[in-house]
Formats: sequence, structure tokens, C-alpha cells
Amino acid sequence: MPKWTVIFGLAICLMFHSSLAAGHEPELTKAIDPNFVAVKRYAVVSGICPQNRNTKTAPGRYLDKTNPLAPTKENIERGKNLFIKDAKPTACKLCHGNRGNGNGNLARRMEPPPRNFTCAKVMNDLPDGQLFWIIQNGSKGTAMPAHKFSLNKEQIWQLILYIRSFLET
Ligand code: HEC
Repeated sequence: MPKWTVIFGLAICLMFHSSLAAGHEPELTKAIDPNFVAVKRYAVVSGICPQNRNTKTAPGRYLDKTNPLAPTKENIERGKNLFIKDAKPTACKLCHGNRGNGNGNLARRMEPPPRNFTCAKVMNDLPDGQLFWIIQNGSKGTAMPAHKFSLNKEQIWQLILYIRSFLET
């Protein structure tokens, strides 16, 4: 084969290769990076289940309470807004996580860790009245704050409807 054919062939190969690389590189970066972050985030946010509970059992008169509100779209939506932004002193999601699995931004190295609401093994044993009592009064010895001065009863029941909805996803 004459020399120039080899050189020409190599040059064409190189051009083809670099045009491929140039064309694909930005796409690859776009495709790989968000995935990478998503996978990493997923690994970080998947909660522990079953999880130890460090919270006391509510008094009997609370345990008997049932949620007076129906799980309508509107009630669940209101609970969601409280959970992700409106609840004072701190929005619940900052500890319990956007997806309710107990891995919010403030939860890192929190001991005991916030409750993972996506864990059926633990949540199915907790009556509504227990959740109500804790949201209202907080859980002594843990970071769970009391909300009796910042949330009214209706808001607490709306939050409970929303918390229960994490199990369905
Ligand atoms: C500063 C962090 C933090 C914030 C903010 C927070 N929680 Fe908690 N929460 C915790 C911790 C910690 C626990 C205790 C986990 C345990 O018992 O081991 C807990 C427990 C709970 C429990 C479980 C009670 C039980 O009997 O197991 C419920 C329900 C709950 N939180 C609801 C909420 C709601 C609703 C909000 C917002 C209005 C909220 N939390 C805000 C940290 C937080």
C-alpha cells in the first residue's frame, strides 16, 4: 500500500474519532453527572428500617384518638405544605426528609435519628394518637420539637394524613 494511502486513512480515522468525541462529550457529561448524583443521593436518603424508637408511649387518652379528618386531597396537600415548609420552629422535612425516610439535611449524625415514615414495620404499630401526642409535645431526649404553640389540632391531623401517605409510595 502506498505511504500516502496509510497517512490519509489515519488522518480520516483521527478526524472521525475526534468529531465523535466532540459531538458526544457534552451529552455524556449531561447524561452521566445527574445520574451519578441521583444514585449517590438515593444511597444517602434511603432510611433505616426497622429502626429503633427512642420515643415514649403516649398517655392512654391520646392513644385512643383517631384522626377526625378524611384523607382528602386538600387535607393531605395542607399537611404536605406544613411538612415541607410551613411548620415552625423547623420544617419537618429538614429532619424527616423530603421523602419522609428520616434523612433530612439536619439529620446527619443526629442521635437518635428522626423517624423514617416509609418503614411499615415501625409505622404500622404506631396509632394516630401516638403521632399526635409527639407532634404536639415533642419527644424528650431526642431532637423532635414540640409544636403545641405553633400548630393547631387540625394542622397536626393534616400532617398525620400526609405522614401516613409515605407508606403508599
Ligand atoms: C430537629 C429535627 C426534627 C424536626 C424539625 C422534626 N422532627 Fe419529628 N422526630 C425527630 C426525632 C429525632 C424523632 C425521634 C425518633 C425516635 O423516637 O427514635 C422524631 C420523631 C417523630 C415522630 C415519631 C413519634 C413516635 O412515636 O415514634 C413523628 C410522628 C414526628 N417526629 C413528626 C414530626 C413532624 C410532623 C414534624 C414537623 C411538624 C417533625 N417531626 C419535625 C426529629 C425531628
